[in-house]
Amino acid sequence: MIEPDKKFILIVDDSSTNLSVLSQALKTAGYKVRVAVDGFSAIAILEKCAIAPAKNPLPELILLDVQMPGIDGFETCRQLKTNPATAAIPVIFMTALADAESKIKGLSLGAVDYITKPFEQDEVIARVNIHWRLKQLTDNLEQQVAERTCALQQAQVQLVQQEKLSALGQLVAGVAHEINNPLSFMVSNIAPAKEYLAEITELLSLYQKHYPEPAPDIAIKIDEIDLEFVIEDFSHLLDSMQVGTERIKDISLSLRNFARSDVDTATPIDLHETLDSTLLLLKHRLKDRGARPEIEVIQNYGELPPIKCYPGPMNQVFMNLLANAIDAVEDAWEKDQRCLTITICTEVLRESAIVRIADNGLGMTEEIQKHLFEPLFTTKAVGKGTGLGLSIAQQIVTDKHGGQLFCKSLADRGTEFAIELPI
Ligand SMILES: Nc1ncnc2c1ncn2[C@@H]1O[C@H](COP(=O)(O)OP(=O)(O)OP(=O)(O)O)[C@@H](O)[C@H]1O
Ligand SMILES: [Mg+2]
Repeated sequence: MIEPDKKFILIVDDSSTNLSVLSQALKTAGYKVRVAVDGFSAIAILEKCAIAPAKNPLPELILLDVQMPGIDGFETCRQLKTNPATAAIPVIFMTALADAESKIKGLSLGAVDYITKPFEQDEVIARVNIHWRLKQLTDNLEQQVAERTCALQQAQVQLVQQEKLSALGQLVAGVAHEINNPLSFMVSNIAPAKEYLAEITELLSLYQKHYPEPAPDIAIKIDEIDLEFVIEDFSHLLDSMQVGTERIKDISLSLRNFARSDVDTATPIDLHETLDSTLLLLKHRLKDRGARPEIEVIQNYGELPPIKCYPGPMNQVFMNLLANAIDAVEDAWEKDQRCLTITICTEVLRESAIVRIADNGLGMTEEIQKHLFEPLFTTKAVGKGTGLGLSIAQQIVTDKHGGQLFCKSLADRGTEFAIELPI
């Protein structure tokens, strides 16, 4: 059966008898026919089709007479083959020139077949059917090749990126692990150091109590070092060292959580913990910078059960979405110095865990939203964005977790991404 929108054939012949006989036969066989009486008008018709193929579709096949007034069929064919818009349309020559030389010339010009006149109607229809079918198969194949090539390129880009991230993850986990040993010396030594300080201080005050009049050089030294201040400040120093080491411990734990190269299977995790450790890693980007005030993060966490996830990749999703939100609000601040907020909400909705990450940045136009999840699509400057963040996030959410990633955005008002994960 011939598809109704794909049955257009152009017949070019200067003989009106031939045109009418062939048109009739082809129409009966289910084709839509257009005719041209010479080479020039055929080229003109095809050029018009090429300009607006949606309105005037190009023919699927051309039946071309060879001997015509003006330019002959061979020249017409040559011209059609040099135009990229018409080069792929199969041409069948129809001619009384039955000598081998003419046939070879026709075929070498790119024709797919050669019918000698006077023709048998049934033979013409049979050949047209075959070539029409071949054209469909070729078109199909070309489309499939183009689709597969595109899919392959995307897969390649993502593989390379994943490979890099996994290598980076291992490095990060390794560094975090290495930091842990020296860190634990410090953490475990600060408490005894505080005790020793307390004891030495107590001993000193005992001395002062029992020997209120120290020897002159001791009295000078006490004055010189400002003993009272040193004792007081020493304990502050130890306190701040303790706070510092606690923070390093948190960061190192977050790094290890983030990389989690050790966990290659889905495990039930607390998404709030994952979000918090990602936020901790992004803390340096949230802080005020120059004139730009701090970016406020509002955490409206609801009740979430443990969700079965791949922790490393899920961290990547949060990281990509939060990094984009930070970029968006930073751009908005450059534009109009608005207050900057990122809001994270979580809830359970119809058997799914929902995590929403919203920003009050510049939002996106509809055009940008159309391409958002395409790999390598970015509006950011070279070196700032690779355009992979969202395509990777979407792949992780949909393919790896069977969830969905939605985006709502209003230009100049902000953007909200919603991750929906099955419970
Ligand atoms: N929260 C957002 N607000 C406004 N635009 C956004 C937001 N998130 C993404 N976009 C737009 O979508 C584009 C693609 O984002 P994506 O994260 O895939 O790549 P990128 O951020 O440009 O680069 P990277 O690979 O470093 O993440 C961005 O360049 C930006 O134009
Ligand atoms: Mg990004």
